[in-house]
Amino acid sequence: MLCVVALVALGPVLGLASWASAANYSPTPYQTGRVNSGTPNSTSVVRNAKTGAIVSYGDSAITYTAPSPALSELGKSLFLENCASCHGTQANGVPANGTSGAYPNLVGLGPATIDFWVESGRMPAADPRAVQANRRTPRLNQTQALAIAAWVNSLSPSYPDIPSPNLTSANVSEGAALFALNCAACHTIEGDGDALAYGTFAPSLRNIPAYQVVEAIRTGPANMPRFTGNLSDYQVADIVKYVTTEIQHPQNIGGFGLGGLGPVAEGFVGLLLGVGLLALVGFWVGERQ
Ligand code: HEC
Ligand code: HEC
Repeated sequence: MLCVVALVALGPVLGLASWASAANYSPTPYQTGRVNSGTPNSTSVVRNAKTGAIVSYGDSAITYTAPSPALSELGKSLFLENCASCHGTQANGVPANGTSGAYPNLVGLGPATIDFWVESGRMPAADPRAVQANRRTPRLNQTQALAIAAWVNSLSPSYPDIPSPNLTSANVSEGAALFALNCAACHTIEGDGDALAYGTFAPSLRNIPAYQVVEAIRTGPANMPRFTGNLSDYQVADIVKYVTTEIQHPQNIGGFGLGGLGPVAEGFVGLLLGVGLLALVGFWVGERQ
């Protein structure tokens, strides 16, 4: 009896507590309700004991870590120096001369988006009128990129945070199948990249660091779709293993090259030759009888 009373009394308190923590975690277009999909809805969340802010989240396949708030001050000055001329001093896409909409608004994009564009050398933009920003040697180093991400994120906290994949138990053949289904249409099955509409292109996937492959998958740069709820962290890790191992050695996928058509085509060729040979043997045996 006492137990029931205690439960009834505690119920609303517990309910309130979970409501309060849900309110801290502001949903943005980058959120999804699915677990293991690049958001703190994943299996484990580590919080700062004092402030309650999320320090990291994720699972055994991918850990996402927030850039340290201590870097924020440095990030602000780097932003004013390198980014504000186009994206504005508030990072809202309104530069000093006031034309809003000329450049993307960066507020609420999440640390992984900012980090990807800076660490892949796309930003600061070489030519703001280019149809598409290309990967280049980065102009800012990793700490500087994280600092800028920390400051922009402090304006309106969002996700995903900076991913760090653990590929030890990732399955490369599962990754190849998922890549064929989700990525090959644009990047080709060997990751060479290909032209898309209106002068844009899907770039080659050679020599892209594993964490940046995760960033691209989870944030969807420019014309690439963003993969959130439809791919779990485990599936993303499988894809990343395929992209960072097999795709890097297109000539060594095993067997004969066959013009780079890959193991599937090789299977077909094998089948054709094999069946043809069997047919010949069949005719030969048949004629002898
Ligand atoms: C010379 C102008 C210019 C400068 C300087 C510049 N950017 Fe950009 N930025 C652009 C343009 C133009 C785009 C859109 C490019 C595209 O979509 O290919 C863009 C896109 C981005 C995006 C992607 C936005 C989205 O919606 O996905 C991010 C993130 C970004 N910039 C961050 C930065 C950061 C951080 C800096 C400073 C280190 C910076 N930019 C400096 C012009 C600039
Ligand atoms: C609809 C076409 C399309 C699909 C599907 C697609 N991508 Fe992309 N991807 C692009 C485009 C376009 C870019 C370049 C974006 C930019 O820089 O403006 C890109 C960029 C990337 C990059 C960054 C490469 C670099 O040079 O920095 C990686 C990594 C990547 N994609 C991996 C993937 C993976 C893995 C998948 C499947 C899960 C995938 N992409 C699915 C079109 C696509």
